[in-house]
Amino acid sequence: MKKLNIGLFGFGVVGEGIYKVLEDKPKLNASIKKIVIKDKDKFRNAPNELFSTNPDDILDDDEINVVVELISDSDAAYSIIKKAFIKHKHVVSANKKLIAEHHLELIKLQKENDVSFLYEASVCGSVPIIRNLEEYFDNDLLNYVFGIVNGTTNYILTKMANANESYQDALKSAQKNGFAEADPTADVEGFDAAHKLSIITLHAFGTKIEIADVIRKGITSLKTKDFEYAREKGYTIKLIANSKIINKNGDLNSTVLPTFVKLDKTIALVNNEYNGVLIGSSLSDEQFLYGNGAGRFPTASAVLSDISALQYDYEYSIRKKSDKILKINESGKLKVY
Ligand code: HSE
Repeated sequence: MKKLNIGLFGFGVVGEGIYKVLEDKPKLNASIKKIVIKDKDKFRNAPNELFSTNPDDILDDDEINVVVELISDSDAAYSIIKKAFIKHKHVVSANKKLIAEHHLELIKLQKENDVSFLYEASVCGSVPIIRNLEEYFDNDLLNYVFGIVNGTTNYILTKMANANESYQDALKSAQKNGFAEADPTADVEGFDAAHKLSIITLHAFGTKIEIADVIRKGITSLKTKDFEYAREKGYTIKLIANSKIINKNGDLNSTVLPTFVKLDKTIALVNNEYNGVLIGSSLSDEQFLYGNGAGRFPTASAVLSDISALQYDYEYSIRKKSDKILKINESGKLKVY
C-alpha cells in the first residue's frame, strides 16, 4: 500500500471531517502534511503548524503526492489542480462546477502528467455513482441516466409535496438546516444539477456535454397547487436530471427539469436531501443508486473513498477510461441535442 502525503486545500466542514478521520484511522496509510487556508487567524481544531496561506507550500513540496482540493472558489481550484498535475501530484476534488467546465482539459492534463484525478464527491455525495458508471463503461450498453442529483432542491420539493409548504418557506427551512446557501441560485435554478449531469454523462456515455447544451429549468416558479394537481393525478414533482441516447448514432438529449413522477415509482420515494439515480442499460434493464447526496459526512465519505482508491490500483482503470473518453470526444462524431 502506497504512503499518501496529502496537501489539503480548504478546512471547512468536509476538510475538517477528513482530517479527523485520517487522524483516527491509522489503517489508511495516508496523512495530511499541509493544509492551505485563506485566513490563518481563525481558530481551527488541528495543530497550528499544519496551516499555511501559501499554495506553494503544498505545490512545491515534493513529498506531497496527493492534493485534496475542497475550496468553494472554482477559479482558484482550477489553477491549483492544473499546477498540481504539472507537479505530478494526484488530485481528489469535490468541485463539480470546475470539473464540469474543464473536464476534458483536466483529464488530458492528468494523462500527460501520468497522475490520477478522482472526484467521486462531486456528484451525489456519498453515492458511488462515478465508480458504478465505470462498471458499465467498457460495455457501451447504457441508454439513460435519470434521477435526482441535487439534495437541496429535493429537500425543498419534499417539503412542498408532503407538508404543503410554499416554495419560500421550504427554501428557508433548507437554509436553516444547512442545505441551501444564502444565495441559493446554483441549486434552485438547476445549475448545480446541470454540472453534475455533465460529469455523469461523460462517465456514462463518454460524451462531454456543455452546460449550455442542457435544457434546464429550476424550481422557483413551482406552487403548492402544482403539487396538489400532481397528487390528484397520482404524481409528485421532482427536479430530474436526465441524459438519454436518442438514436442509433448515440446522440444525446440532456435535461434538468421539474418533472411529474408517478407516486409508485422508485424515484418518487427519494425524499429530503437524498439523491437517487436510475441507470438504464440494454442488458441489465434498469438499476437504481440511492443515498445521502449533500452535507458534511456524505461528502467526506466520498472524498475518503477516493483517497483510499489511490492506495490501490483503481487509478489504472481511471486512466484506461480517460484514453477512451478522449478518443470519443476527439472523433467529434456525436451530437448533443
Ligand atoms: N448543493 C449541493 C446539493 C451540495 O444540494 O446537492 C452537494 O453537491
